Amino acid sequence: MDIPEPLRFLITAGPTREPIDPVRFISNRSSGKMGYALASAAAAAGHSVVLVSGPVAIPVPVDPNIRLVGVETTREMYAAVEARLGEVDVAIMAAAVADWRPVSVRPHKVKKSQQGDWVLHLRKTEDILGSAREPMGFHGLLVGFAAETENLEAYARDKMQRKRCDLMVANDVSQPGIGFDADENEVMVLQADGGIERLPRAAKTVVARELVRIIEGLSRQRRRTQAS
Ligand code: CTP
Repeated sequence: MDIPEPLRFLITAGPTREPIDPVRFISNRSSGKMGYALASAAAAAGHSVVLVSGPVAIPVPVDPNIRLVGVETTREMYAAVEARLGEVDVAIMAAAVADWRPVSVRPHKVKKSQQGDWVLHLRKTEDILGSAREPMGFHGLLVGFAAETENLEAYARDKMQRKRCDLMVANDVSQPGIGFDADENEVMVLQADGGIERLPRAAKTVVARELVRIIEGLSRQRRRTQAS
């Protein structure tokens, strides 16, 4: 049996937050559970993990193989990823990045007495996963997540190609009890070479172990191809 070689992982997890004023922000329902479960599973398998995490309410896994880099905004997550991608073999972008941020952040708390209806002007944030190959120059194994409510496989495959991933983990977020903020997940793992594997509904910790196993296999396969 092959003993997996230790790999260096970077994993993004949780939501990012985009401030509106000093006390308010835009964010999403991500709990960080999937990203944290992946970090735990990779570390338990002997790999080292840099966990780039947005603000979450769950505990950081206690494992000497896990180094936490805490961030808040999408810009901070982008910078943290960019600074560390050169040091890792595998990057898994499991974070639910805020897709838009206010064009301007109000410097003081907006008082209800001074503001009637409040129309926010939002602009797209940086696509961290979509920047990993270019301009960040990452050549390692790149794994993305696709949360969809329809056309799961087609949309996820399109996302995988656009963001130049080796693997795309797709889940149907219209199904109750899986995905966002849930303890369980049920995913379809798409490979860039056309391969597809379905992981049945299970605890995120179980799904995470399976994903680490798939990543180890793909990484071994790559090393063999590069060596021959
Ligand atoms: N992602 C990222 N940076 C962003 C947005 C998304 O790194 N600003 C990553 C997520 O971590 C995840 C994948 O991209 O791995 C999800 O992409 P998603 O936002 O669903 O895809 P888009 O094609 O950008 O959006 P849409 O589904 O709206 O087309």
